[in-house]
Parts: sequence; structure tokens; C-alpha cells
Amino acid sequence: MTRARWVIGNWKQNLLRGPAEALARGLVGGLPDPLIDSDDKVKVGIAPGYMALDVVRPWCRPAGPLFLFAQDVGAQESGAFTGEVGPGMLIDAGVRGAIVGHSERRALFGESDAVVSRKLRCALDAGLRVVLCVGEPLEVRAAGDHEAHVLGQLAAALANLPEDSLNHRVIIAYEPVWAIGTGNTATPDDAAAMHGRIRSWLREHFGAAGSDRSILYGGSVKASNAAELIAAGDIDGFLVGGASLEQAAFLSIIQSVAGP
Ligand code: 13P
Repeated sequence: MTRARWVIGNWKQNLLRGPAEALARGLVGGLPDPLIDSDDKVKVGIAPGYMALDVVRPWCRPAGPLFLFAQDVGAQESGAFTGEVGPGMLIDAGVRGAIVGHSERRALFGESDAVVSRKLRCALDAGLRVVLCVGEPLEVRAAGDHEAHVLGQLAAALANLPEDSLNHRVIIAYEPVWAIGTGNTATPDDAAAMHGRIRSWLREHFGAAGSDRSILYGGSVKASNAAELIAAGDIDGFLVGGASLEQAAFLSIIQSVAGP
């Protein structure tokens, strides 16, 4: 089976509704026709802030070519959970997937592995796609413990997940924390090595369903380094922060993943 290639822009806490709509419109206008016509080459997603979801929706499936993601999702479907946005609410707003376990949620908002696991399960049960983020902080890499750290995050997030739930709706994003927003991209070799390790772990635990999953790289992906990262192999696309806010840069990254 061919693994799906994805480029997803995580807009984080940026862009009011007007600029968000303009960026989505500009992206759609700039996508090469073959990408719009075909589902196969590369799927393009955007993850705006909650308040801009409705204004970008006309550019997203089924009306347009983009896939609409939320940056987070509640760990429960509904109830007395002030401030939370559940998967059903997202689906109702036209959202197709959610990022779960981003390192900023883990580090700045205290999300534990257990919460990440509950969010993942709740989102999948509701029918959303999930982009599960894993990645090690700098001190963990310096100590040489990065593989164990990342595989531990994976094991915790996917614990108790029925084997048939690890289908095309689960996308993994390897985002080393030290590479996020720093300009310090992982070398293509380091990124590919971790992707290979994640893939073999998934195969060991979930069989063919595990090895077929798309594994994206994230962390200071730019127009200038996307092609060499893809060329390293085993990288099925990108989760892009800062560069996804610039139309030309994001389109160039998409083109690098699509190939000539
Ligand atoms: P940057 O591309 O800005 O480093 O952010 C990466 C990221 O956190 C995407 O989720």
C-alpha cells in the first residue's frame, strides 16, 4: 500500500478571521492543478485557530481541496467541561481532523501522556483524523535517549487502541522539541532514522496496519530544506508551523513533497 503524503499547516495562535480566509484562498489559488485533481500525490491540510474555522471552510473539503484540521480536541465527547471543544463540535463545524499531543500542549498546558491517549481515542471514535505528535526535548537528545522517549510517547498514546483503529485516520508527526520555531531543523539523516524507528515500532505492535501509517516531520521546515528532508526517505510529508503562515513558502513546501 502506498502511504499518503501530507503537508499540514499548523497556524497556532495566529491570524484573525480576515487574514486566515485570505491565506486559505491564496493557497487554493496557488495549488498546482494536478494536486487539486488528484487525491494521490499530496494531501494538503490547514489547522487554523478555532475562531477562524468557519471562514476557511469554503476552501476545504468537500467544497474545496484543503483538509480542515483543529489544533486540539477535547478528551471527552461532551458534558460539564468548561472551555473544551469536543470532537462532535468539530465535525459539526466541518472539521475533518485534529492535532493531538503537540509539544506546546504537553509543555505549556501540562498535557500528560494519559490525556493525549484519551484525546486520540475520543477523536478517532467520533470519526476524526488524528495527527499524533511525538518528539523529544533537547536534553533528552543530548543524553542519547531520544528513541526511547519517542517510542514511550507512542506506546502511551496508542495504549489499548484496537488494532483495526490504527488505520489511515491516524497520522504520526515526529516533531523534535528543539527544532520547533528555532530554525534548527533536524538533519535529514536524523529525521529519517527516527521515522524508520517509529515505523518499525508500529509494525511490531500493529503489523501491516502500523507500517502503512504516514509519518510527518515537523520542526523548522522551510521552503529551503523541505526537498532534502523528503529525499532522505521515510518522511511522508510535513507538519509546518511558521512557514505555513507564508503563502509562497507553504506552496513551495507542498511542491517539494509532490515532486516534479
Ligand atoms: P515551526 O515550523 O514553526 O518550527 O513549528 C513546527 C510545529 O510546531 C508544527 O506543529
